[in-house]
Amino acid sequence: MRVAIAGFGFMGRMHYGCWKKVAGAEVVALCDRDKRQFEASAAANGNVAGADVSCDYGKAEIFEDFGRMLEEAAPGLVDITLPTFLHVPMACQALAKGIHVLCEKPMALTAADCDTLLAAWKAAPAGTELMIGQCLRFRNEYAYAKRLIESGVYGRVIAARFGRYSAAPGWTRDGGKSWFFDESLSGGVALDLHIHDTDMVHFLFGLPRSVTSSAYYDNDGAMIHISTLYDVGGASVTAEGGWGMAKSFGFERAFQIVFERATLVMASNRTPEFCLYPMEGKPFVPELPASDPYQNEINWFMDKIGGGAVESVTSPEESRDSVRIVDAEKASARSGKSVCL
Ligand SMILES: NC(=O)c1ccc[n+]([C@@H]2O[C@H](COP(=O)([O-])OP(=O)(O)OC[C@H]3O[C@@H](n4cnc5c(N)ncnc54)[C@H](O)[C@@H]3O)[C@@H](O)[C@H]2O)c1
Repeated sequence: MRVAIAGFGFMGRMHYGCWKKVAGAEVVALCDRDKRQFEASAAANGNVAGADVSCDYGKAEIFEDFGRMLEEAAPGLVDITLPTFLHVPMACQALAKGIHVLCEKPMALTAADCDTLLAAWKAAPAGTELMIGQCLRFRNEYAYAKRLIESGVYGRVIAARFGRYSAAPGWTRDGGKSWFFDESLSGGVALDLHIHDTDMVHFLFGLPRSVTSSAYYDNDGAMIHISTLYDVGGASVTAEGGWGMAKSFGFERAFQIVFERATLVMASNRTPEFCLYPMEGKPFVPELPASDPYQNEINWFMDKIGGGAVESVTSPEESRDSVRIVDAEKASARSGKSVCL
């Protein structure tokens, strides 16, 4: 597979490191409009480790223009790790040429924009695949939680909460206020950060019937923190996300799922990070294979393209619905009322 990566910031570097480990794939092109991203000094910073790839770009040709890259490098697959407002136009361009697209989350700025991308995918030459990188679905702890919920081994879920907290993102290289702070470019904290947990609620409990959210906005009207109660029927399920934390706080992702006969806890700043507390017997750390979610999602997509039997983990329609839930959360926070889905 001839692979091209568009956008060589934090996520582009992260994905590049993964693609190098995929047998049968070769990164033939990298594209970023900012040439400095390819300099030796351009080590990426982000909220998770793994993006510090070396500056050995192998045989990959470097481009500044996306369209030119598609024409000249003729990739079979393009991995879009561009700022969110560019996901739909760039992905549509590639799909129209029959190029498979892996696109970073969130799928688009709004559910309506997601529908534009879905329509472009349906209109693409037969066999062209599209995947949105909602990476938590490929993270072992969340997959383990899904297995526990589905097996019912510890009974039904009583309550669950999910959270994601960080300082404001500051890892882009364009100086000043980055694109992340402009809601028209990133969708703001609800779509950029909190969608990971929204998508987890969706993945583990299905599409909620309604959402009830509250949010804090800064003096410029930008959302800084959001908390949501999801009506999933039965369990009490909440999630919150914010980037108003102090820089020294760093980053934390966490969840807690209370079953009738056990509690499952994951918190990136706690030791052990992941632990199951049964009502009977001692707490234990579930044994999980050591694997990287970005690598897992890329491997899964390659298997899917290859026609192999893959577990049904994600679909573009589900990614659209996660954006739809976030749209509803934003509307609920603004109106102070519950919003039905
Ligand atoms: N899955 C995850 O865990 C995760 C984490 C962080 C970001 N993301 C998502 O990944 C995407 C990218 O985020 P990031 O943190 O890598 O951003 P970033 O700002 O670090 O990188 C984006 C890169 O795109 C380049 N770019 C901008 N416009 C371009 C254009 N027209 N043509 C070519 N290059 C262009 C920029 O120069 C920059 O290098 C966003 O959608 C974000 O939400 C996902």
